[in-house]
Amino acid sequence: MPTLRSSETLLPSSPIASPAMGKTDGKGSSTANKKRARSHSTDDGTPIKTHSPANRRSTSSNANGNGKVSKGELLCSPKSPRKRLSDQFSEKPKWNPTDPAQMQAVREALHVATAPSNVVCREEEQKRIFEFCKTCIEQERAGSLYVCGCPGTGKTLSMDRVKENVMLWSKEAGYELPDVLAINCTSLTNTVEIFTTILAKLYPRMKTNSSFSSLQHLQSLFSQSHSSPRRMILIVVDEMDYLITKDRAVLHNLFMLTTFPFSRCILIGIANAIDLADRFLPKLESLNCKPLVITFHAYLKDQILKIIQQRLMVLGYDVFQPLALEFCARKVAAASGDMRRALGVCRSAIEVLEEELRDPSKQGQCNIVTFDHMDIAISKAFKSTVINTIHSLPQHQQIILCALVNFFQQFKKNATTLGELNRSYVQICKSAHVPAAGTLEFTNMCTVLNDQGLLKLGKSKEDKLKRVTLQIDSSDITFAFKGNRFFQNCLEQR
Ligand SMILES: Nc1ncnc2c1ncn2[C@@H]1O[C@H](COP(=O)(O)OP(=O)(O)O)[C@@H](O)[C@H]1O
Ligand SMILES: [Mg+2]
Repeated sequence: MPTLRSSETLLPSSPIASPAMGKTDGKGSSTANKKRARSHSTDDGTPIKTHSPANRRSTSSNANGNGKVSKGELLCSPKSPRKRLSDQFSEKPKWNPTDPAQMQAVREALHVATAPSNVVCREEEQKRIFEFCKTCIEQERAGSLYVCGCPGTGKTLSMDRVKENVMLWSKEAGYELPDVLAINCTSLTNTVEIFTTILAKLYPRMKTNSSFSSLQHLQSLFSQSHSSPRRMILIVVDEMDYLITKDRAVLHNLFMLTTFPFSRCILIGIANAIDLADRFLPKLESLNCKPLVITFHAYLKDQILKIIQQRLMVLGYDVFQPLALEFCARKVAAASGDMRRALGVCRSAIEVLEEELRDPSKQGQCNIVTFDHMDIAISKAFKSTVINTIHSLPQHQQIILCALVNFFQQFKKNATTLGELNRSYVQICKSAHVPAAGTLEFTNMCTVLNDQGLLKLGKSKEDKLKRVTLQIDSSDITFAFKGNRFFQNCLEQR
C-alpha cells in the first residue's frame, strides 16, 4: 500500500508544530478559520485541471444554472457524440458491469470501509499531525492536539494514516515505539470511562483503589517520576463531541493530563462539532493548556472529484462518464462536502445502472455510469435526506428531537408546547450530563428545526405556549439514532 513511509516522504511545506508551540501559540492557527464551512483553495494548493472535452462541456452546459444537460447530449448509444468523444480519449479496457467480479471490485473501491491506497487532498493536515507527534517523541514531551471538522472530511482516515506513519518513523529513527490507544467515544458508556480506559491501557494489571477515581489515579501517577510510565503513549480520542459535560470537566481534565510533570501522553482529540473548540478551549487556554488546533475543511468539488478518481484508479477501466462524476462532486460539495455522501451517491448511481441492465428492453445499451444515472442517484440521495439531515444537526438540536419523540411516546401525544418541550429537553440534558442551552437559545434552535421542516411551530404571542408538532415520522428520528448509545439513552429517558 503506497502510504507515506517516513517523515522525508511527507510534504516539506509547513513549519513543525512543536508541542510547546501548541500550548502557547494558537492565535494564528486554524482556530480563526474554524467556523468557515470551507476554504476557497484546495488543500494541497493545486487545483485539479480537468482537460477532458466532457468536463469542458459540463461548464458550458451548466451555464443555464440548473446543472442539467439535455438528454440527447448524454445518451450512451454507440452513435452519440458523447460516446465517441470518451472513446477517443480513453484507451482503457471496457468495464463489463454484468461481470459480478468486476462489479464487486467497483463496489469495494467506492465503499467507505475500504481504506484508499493513497489519502489525497489531506497531505498538509497529515503532515501537521505527524510533525506534532514526531516532535513530542523526539523531545519526550507530552502534548495535545485538537482536530475538528464536519463529518466525512477525512479526519479519522487521516489520523489512521498518521498513526501508521508515526510507528514506522519511530522504528526507523530508533525511538522506542509509543503505545497507541485509540478510543471512539461513541462506544463509552459514560464520559468518565475515558479515564478508566487510559488507566487500563497504561497499567493493565493495576488494582485500583475504589476511593480514588481513575482520573485521580492518572493525575497522581503522572505527578511522580517513579510511577509514571517511561514510554510515550499516543492517545487518539475520536468522536470527542460525546465527552461534553455540563462543566466540560471531562474534556478539561483529559487535556490537562498532558500538563503533569511526568506525563508522556500525546493526546489527539477529534471532534465533528466545529464550535466545540469555542466551548472548551478558552478554559484550557486560561489553564495554559491550549492544544494545537487543526481544522479539516469540508471538501471542495475538485477535491471530491480527485478523491473519487484516485479510489477508482485501482480498477483499470472507466466506470463513470467524467461528466457524471463531476456532477456528483459538485452537488455534494454544495451540500456538505462530506466524502461519505459522495461515495454513497456513486454507489447508488451504479445500482441505477444495474437496475437498467436488468430491464430487458434496455439491455446492452450502456456499459458506463452516465450523467442520467448519476442524476437519478443524486435526486434519491437528496430527497431521502431526512436521516442525513438529522445526522448533520448540531448535538443540541438532535437532543431536542429526541426530547420531542420521548415526550410523545411517554404521554401518548402528538403535540406539545414549546414550554413543555423545553422542560423535557432540560431533563434529558441533565440526565446526560450535558449543559442545557438557555431558553432563548432553545427557542432559536426550535425555529431552525421548524425552518428545516423537521418540526412545526405554531403561532402564539408567548413563545412557551407555541404548539409543537413533528413534521417527520418519529420513527425517522429513532432510526437515525439507532446504534448510538448517547441518543438511545436520550430517547429512553423517563
Ligand atoms: N482524502 C480521502 N481520500 C480517500 N477517501 C477519503 C478521503 N477522505 C475521506 N474519505 C472517505 O470518506 C470516509 C469518511 O472519512 P472519515 O475519515 O471517516 O471522515 P470523518 O472522520 O471526518 O468523519 C472514509 O471512510 C474514507 O473512505
Ligand atoms: Mg471520524
